[in-house]
Order: sequence, then C-alpha cells, then structure tokens
Amino acid sequence: MVKSDEMKKVLVTGAVGQIGSELTMELRRLHGNDNVVAMGRKTKPSDELGNSGPFEFGNVTDRESLDSIIKKYDIDTVYHMAAILSGAGEKNPQLAYDVNMNGLYNVLEAAREHELTRVMVPSSIAAFGPSTPKENTPQETILKPTTMYGVTKVAGELLADYYFKRFGVDVRGLRYPGIISSETLPGGGTTDYAVEIFYEAINHKKYKCFVREDTVLPMMYMPDCINATIDLMNADVNKLIHHSDFNLGALSFSAGGLADEIRKHIPEFTVTYEPDFRQAIADSWPRTIDDSAARAEWGWKPTYDLAKMTLDMIEKLSAKLL
Ligand code: SER
Repeated sequence: MVKSDEMKKVLVTGAVGQIGSELTMELRRLHGNDNVVAMGRKTKPSDELGNSGPFEFGNVTDRESLDSIIKKYDIDTVYHMAAILSGAGEKNPQLAYDVNMNGLYNVLEAAREHELTRVMVPSSIAAFGPSTPKENTPQETILKPTTMYGVTKVAGELLADYYFKRFGVDVRGLRYPGIISSETLPGGGTTDYAVEIFYEAINHKKYKCFVREDTVLPMMYMPDCINATIDLMNADVNKLIHHSDFNLGALSFSAGGLADEIRKHIPEFTVTYEPDFRQAIADSWPRTIDDSAARAEWGWKPTYDLAKMTLDMIEKLSAKLL
C-alpha cells in the first residue's frame, strides 16, 4: 500500500466499465480497499468489485449525486472513466453529449468547488478526424473529429486544460487507443472487435469482424493502460508541459494481422469481414501514434507487443471460458 503524508481518498466513475473495473482494483491495491470508491450508473458490479470496497450507484450527469458521494467519503482524487463510446455515441448522440459533456462539467465543477487535489479525464484517439495525419499522428495536430464521441473528447480536453489554467484544478488526461482486456468487455466502441475476436476465437473458432481486414488502429493492452493512467496521475506537475491531451501509443496492427497472431495459437480459427457503420469511424482515426511527449514528460513506455499481448489474452480467457 502507498504510504504518503496525505492518504488519498479516490473516486472512480464508470467503475463497472472496461477500464474502470480493473483500474479500481489496482487503485484499491495501491491505496487500500476502503480508500477507493467505485461509482457506477446501473450495471451491477462483479462480486470482486462490489465486495472489495465501497460501491455507490450514481449518475455523473446528476451533480447532487456526485457531490454527495464526494462529501460522504471525503474524496480528494477522481478518475473520471464514465463515458459513452464512439459506436454507442453514433446511435444516440444526445446521450453521448449529455454523459460526456455534462458529466465532465459536473466532475470539473465539483473538483473546483471541493478543491480536489487531482482529476483524471481520459481522452481518446477519437479526438482525431479524417484530416489528421494518420501515420505517427503528432501530439499537436488537426483535431476535427466526425463522431459525437470525438467532439466531446476534443471539447473535454480543452475544458480540462481551461480548468487547470483558470482555476488551478490539477486535471490530467490521455488519448487512449483501443484497449484490449480479458476482465470486462468493452461496450459500444469501434475498437471492440479487437477484444471480441479473442472471445469468439476461444469459444467458437470463428469471428465475424465488423471492420475490414486491412483496418489498422492504435491499440493497447490493459496492464499498459493501467500503468499509463496511474503513472501520469503520479507525475510531477512541474515536469508536465501538456496536461489533458497526451498522445499514447503502444501497438498498431490490422484486424487481419491480429487474426493471424491468434491463429498461431488456434490454427483452425477463421474470420469473415462484414464492415458496418463503425468502419467509417475507424477510417477517420489514426493508424499509428507519436507519443514522444508522454515519453519525455512522464516517462511513458509500453511493455506489451502484439505477440505478448495475444499470448496473455488467450491464456487468461481460456482459463476463464473453457
Ligand atoms: N475504444 C474507443 C472507441 O472505440 C476509442 O476511444 O470508441
């Protein structure tokens, strides 16, 4: 457990989600179970998440419920993981706006009023758009996304930086690539195929992929995602030039390349490609990311390559599913 002068009291919103669920457990390991409050909107938490520490149902779009949880537990740090992802956001742009913008505004205002010490606000590769350079996408570049999710992410980055400069709220954020993990399924994202493919390969030896075989997107394995998130939150603020918009790279591979890698372990695995509306979203995003600012300012370095990630996913999911 981390011992520091001031014991952290942490709130994780979106704690039942793909990243939130694993992040909460790691933060509980670091800060003590009782010091990390998990907040979810409606999905029942797993037994592990629900029983290992405090859990509260609440909606980030409801400022009162957020405030009451912050006060009840004397929260000083928030990891604001609640969001509607790109695919779900195109099905319901109004909901995406409400959760992603009003929810973020509530978290930032609560942070300002309650003088919280630090807030994590994730951004995404969805902040980029069709006019952004696709290869080695620079830290400073064109941000003209074409999804509601992306629009809320760009606005969120700007808002978070505004709160840092104008009100001194120590907000930090990362442009996550697609996150691959074996604990909790992602929901409503364009990069979900890179997780679903493993479940289907193990369960049924075949997968119908909703993007083309040659679709390349930036991805990352969950242990790297958790490390990046916590490392940025622990970084010395004086060394940060950027705050809420760090490019974050790790892996880049095509859907077909991922299938080939899985086939090294499951030779009979077959994939068919039937692109749906998410193909256009994938085509509007970068293929590879220049994350030199994150490397220089807080020492970011990923540890999983495609082969190591694939092996670990297959081992973990086989143990869980078979
Ligand atoms: N994984 C997210 C999505 O596909 C990208 O941030 O929407």
